[in-house]
Amino acid sequence: MDTFAIEGGRPLSGSLRVQGAKNAALPILAASILAEGQFYIYDVPHLKDIEVMLKILTALGARTKHADGSVDLDTTSVSVSHVPDDLMGQMRSSIFLAGPLLARLGEVTISRPGGCLIGERRIDLHLAGLTALGAKIEEAEGYITFRADQLYGTNIFLSFPSVGATENIMMAAVLAKGTTRICNAAREPEIVDLQNFLNAMGARICGAGTDTIEINGVTRLRPVSYRIIPDRIVAGTHLLAVGVSKGHIELTNIIPEHLTALIEVARSCGVEIKTYHDIMEVKSTGNPLAYERIITSPFPGFPTDLQAQLMVFLAQATGTSVIKETIFEGRFKHVNELARMGASIYVDLGSAIIRGGNKLSGTSVEASDLRAGAALVLAGLAAEGTTTVSQIHHIDRGYERLELQLQQLGARISRVSI
Ligand code: EPZ
Repeated sequence: MDTFAIEGGRPLSGSLRVQGAKNAALPILAASILAEGQFYIYDVPHLKDIEVMLKILTALGARTKHADGSVDLDTTSVSVSHVPDDLMGQMRSSIFLAGPLLARLGEVTISRPGGCLIGERRIDLHLAGLTALGAKIEEAEGYITFRADQLYGTNIFLSFPSVGATENIMMAAVLAKGTTRICNAAREPEIVDLQNFLNAMGARICGAGTDTIEINGVTRLRPVSYRIIPDRIVAGTHLLAVGVSKGHIELTNIIPEHLTALIEVARSCGVEIKTYHDIMEVKSTGNPLAYERIITSPFPGFPTDLQAQLMVFLAQATGTSVIKETIFEGRFKHVNELARMGASIYVDLGSAIIRGGNKLSGTSVEASDLRAGAALVLAGLAAEGTTTVSQIHHIDRGYERLELQLQQLGARISRVSI
């Protein structure tokens, strides 16, 4: 299993182009099932989760090729309705196959999705949404089978603005008869990207990015070429990497309005951030001020996917900060590892109280999930001495060779295969 070896205490400098967004590419690749023919999708990062999604599409009958960030995909022969169990269990995003397969084939069988162990990660909103569109659902022996000869548009209210459920319902509704209105929809930028991709295919969707999305069903869609938006979480991770280890970097392939919440917090803590067009310049002295209270919430609130990385930054700050995690109940697994490095953090009733100012010391730590792993890498950049991060396969699910990205910014980090 590979590990990262990180030598801390070096200011970062240099320029880096941010990778395409994992959480936009995954639903968009699944949505390609909705039309037959040749797709070209650009800026698709080389990640474990993308590899699994392409394996699933191949198992369903598609022909796929991924080279230099471009995916060449022919979905003409998609005809298999059972998503392979071993692939289904490897990530959360395999649930995205339900909507498009049901719309295309009229039937789909899946097992429960996998994904980061950051909470219960229920799928009830996915099931309720597809049922509302007319799907008949049977659960037996660990499998869920959806059947519908025809899906019909309807109004769907989400009790929580679930990103995945919003996307699954959108993908099922585009070929339904009539109009579907999703109320209390998630507003993340990745949902806007999915809307733009589907509309380029000939769908008639409006409202993505707001809490109400309207989908007017059409009879058929066509294959397209499309470029994925930048990954705002990877960009935010690098912004915080400078925040914890000081320095001055430039990030390109940025959409600043996707990072408003983080930029506001980081500026309040003393980080200098300049944005112009798709470029962001980040400068930090490495001694941030504390931030009284952050509450993670659905977009445009502070993203849960940057909570762990922000905690490392605030552990360096002068003063005490509080982070309340409201999206995933199991997303504080990095706290113990950070405490072993010398951070003073304790968790109480869903909030982490971070007493800043403790110097971090390098040691061996273990990644428990994707973003917790990224946070431990940032802690290694800030720490005195050398930090070894193990279980980095979690990190490879969301960051394209993170060690190469950070090396490009002057960090002393290497991948050790053992
Ligand atoms: C997406 O997960 C992202 N993953 C996550 O990113 C991200 O953290 C999350 O949205 C929130 O922004 C992808 O896009 C592939 P949700 P998703 O449905 O769709 C509950 C990363 O690090 N819920 O918005 O699974 C759920 O339990 C990953 O890149 C239900 O109760 O998130 C959770 O508490 C991690 N029933 C909350 O909603 C449902 O049917 C948010 O889940 C669905 C969700």
